[in-house]
Amino acid sequence: MSRLEAEGRAPSCWWRFGFWLIIIAGLIILIVWINLRPTGSDIPKCSIEYFYVPALNKTLNSRLNTTLNFMVRLANPNSEQGIYYDDVHLSFSSVTYVFIANYTVPRFYQGRKKKAKKWGQVVPLNNQTVLEAVLPNGLASFRINLKTQVRYKNSFWKTRRFGVVVGAEVGVNGDGVKANKKGIRLKKSDSSSSSSLRSYFPVCVLTNLLVFFAIC
Ligand SMILES: *[C@@H]1O[C@H](CO)[C@@H](O)[C@H](O)[C@H]1NC(C)=O
Ligand SMILES: *[C@@H]1O[C@H](CO)[C@@H](O)[C@H](O)[C@H]1NC(C)=O
Ligand SMILES: *[C@@H]1O[C@H](CO)[C@@H](O)[C@H](O)[C@H]1NC(C)=O
Ligand SMILES: *[C@@H]1O[C@H](CO)[C@@H](O)[C@H](O)[C@H]1NC(C)=O
Repeated sequence: MSRLEAEGRAPSCWWRFGFWLIIIAGLIILIVWINLRPTGSDIPKCSIEYFYVPALNKTLNSRLNTTLNFMVRLANPNSEQGIYYDDVHLSFSSVTYVFIANYTVPRFYQGRKKKAKKWGQVVPLNNQTVLEAVLPNGLASFRINLKTQVRYKNSFWKTRRFGVVVGAEVGVNGDGVKANKKGIRLKKSDSSSSSSLRSYFPVCVLTNLLVFFAIC
């Protein structure tokens, strides 16, 4: 009797499990698709094109003007999507992460394949932090981090927000300017966009197991 019951029960359990598995797999695929769809778009290319600290200009022979003068270039590499930038937060520090100053580029929209040049000037909280960035060899080095969130826009909709966290070290020569003539690309320091799938994965597995036990 119990053997028959077991035989009768098992197929229907598996059938129901299979049915729900398909429904849930479908939902998971939909969620993952919605969230990962925009990774077809490339994150903006950010670089420091100009950087000047008058206090570090030896020919000026005055260390009073410790302002940081800079230009950050933000380029949209996508030919299919525009980019809505949230406020772009720039953070300046020494290479040993002693805080110097923060600066915010207000939110803006950028069309397909467009480039934006954002000029800025910021007075450090403490002028000593700028002067202390000078290394024993006479060169100075600064850490510049950029943090923002972007939404991509194609013809029909705007995506959710994606974090952009990039940074670089900028060397400054005896003229107080960026030592490297070429622009300095700000690079990703952690994986902020690919983390979404990884964080969903355990949830998917757990949901499937729960459904299995609930049905059987
Ligand atoms: C450094 O200071 C000198 C003297 O004022 C000035 O001529 C020169 O343009 C400055 N350098 C830069 C990169 O601005
Ligand atoms: C730094 O700032 C202080 C006041 O905040 C000022 O007294 C001092 O002269 C400044 N030093 C330099 C080198 O600019
Ligand atoms: C400091 O230098 C910058 C860049 O040359 C200039 O725009 C600014 O007016 C100067 N600030 C002062 C207080 O002289
Ligand atoms: C500067 O910005 C960083 C990150 O963007 C933030 O953690 C920090 O609190 C800010 N500091 C000041 C003094 O605003």
